[in-house]
Amino acid sequence: MKTVVCPKYGPPEVLQIQEAEEPAPRESELLIEVKATTVTSADARVRTMRMPSPAFRLIGRLALGVFGPRQRVLGTELAGVVKAVGANVSSFRSGDSVVAVVGIRFGAHAELVCVPESSPVVRVPANLTHEEAVAIPFGAFTALYYLRDLARVEPGQRVLVVGASGAVGVAAVQLAGFFGAHVTGVCSAANVERVRSLGASRVIDYTAEDFTQDAAEYDVVFDTVGATSFVRCKRTLKPNGQFLAAVLTLTEFRQMLWTLLVGGKRVKGGVTPEKRADLEFLMTLAAAGHIKPVIDRRYTMREIVAAHRRVDSGRKVGSVVVTVGEPRV
Ligand SMILES: NC(=O)c1ccc[n+]([C@@H]2O[C@H](COP(=O)([O-])OP(=O)(O)OC[C@H]3O[C@@H](n4cnc5c(N)ncnc54)[C@H](OP(=O)(O)O)[C@@H]3O)[C@@H](O)[C@H]2O)c1
Repeated sequence: MKTVVCPKYGPPEVLQIQEAEEPAPRESELLIEVKATTVTSADARVRTMRMPSPAFRLIGRLALGVFGPRQRVLGTELAGVVKAVGANVSSFRSGDSVVAVVGIRFGAHAELVCVPESSPVVRVPANLTHEEAVAIPFGAFTALYYLRDLARVEPGQRVLVVGASGAVGVAAVQLAGFFGAHVTGVCSAANVERVRSLGASRVIDYTAEDFTQDAAEYDVVFDTVGATSFVRCKRTLKPNGQFLAAVLTLTEFRQMLWTLLVGGKRVKGGVTPEKRADLEFLMTLAAAGHIKPVIDRRYTMREIVAAHRRVDSGRKVGSVVVTVGEPRV
């Protein structure tokens, strides 16, 4: 089978398509024939070893591999068809259409992938294609964790999403709306209509307007791309407002601790957990049309270098999808 291998840290050109032995499912695993996967900002971050601060780069290399990724096949999510199941698998069978998140174990950029039955793997809703289903988890897992678990967004609250056109941003706009919040999105002029179509009642073009100037406006400011800071947003937060930081540097860690101790306006962030129940929930929302997949561009596996380049540009809208095993639709 074909895999995309990242033998060392570097630009997209380090990636190579290589043949590998077909994996065989263990007793409690599913073997999935991958039809679609994504290149996420996490894949690009690992490939480049570009971390939010030098200290994180050191930790990153220790955790992920000193000279190159220890897991040489990147890819955090996939959708495809179950090809075989281990003897102990009871909830899936061959032919099922599934979407799965392998997260920081990586390995999804391959034609065949084994995942444990107990991991985040669920059926693809009948009204979604593999490409649409796989475009959802990375951004939506993060948005769900931040908005539901960290901020506990409630109906009627005012939520500002900075980076509203990225993978996390498009999910955050839609999920905040689903939770009944009044959503404002921040993006560049080119993406204003797209963000509005996802349910934002107000969209601010960051190239033309400074969203930090409206006093005591928001219950939650969710910076999905590390474009602003707690200090800049303090004025626009309500007295007990929350600043959510998807990109964490040592500054946010210090602010998280400090604001936890002193109370008032809080800074929150963390590492998104990948839970099967959350994937089930997100696919139920997608099946019902409450959240829509947003696909930036589609690439074939042979175009993986171009797919990474697109992610590196920092301009993608939603998810970059890679079709696997068959021609692009
Ligand atoms: N904490 C966690 O567990 C966790 C989990 C997942 C991801 N993350 C982090 O979340 C970050 C975002 O990931 P992502 O995949 O959503 O990013 P992404 O899709 O690559 O973000 C690209 C988008 O950011 C927008 N953007 C760039 N600069 C901006 C600015 N100054 N203001 C507003 N929007 C701007 C771009 O729109 P324009 O072209 O219009 O500027 C583009 O649409 C990553 O750094 C990732 O590491 C954290």
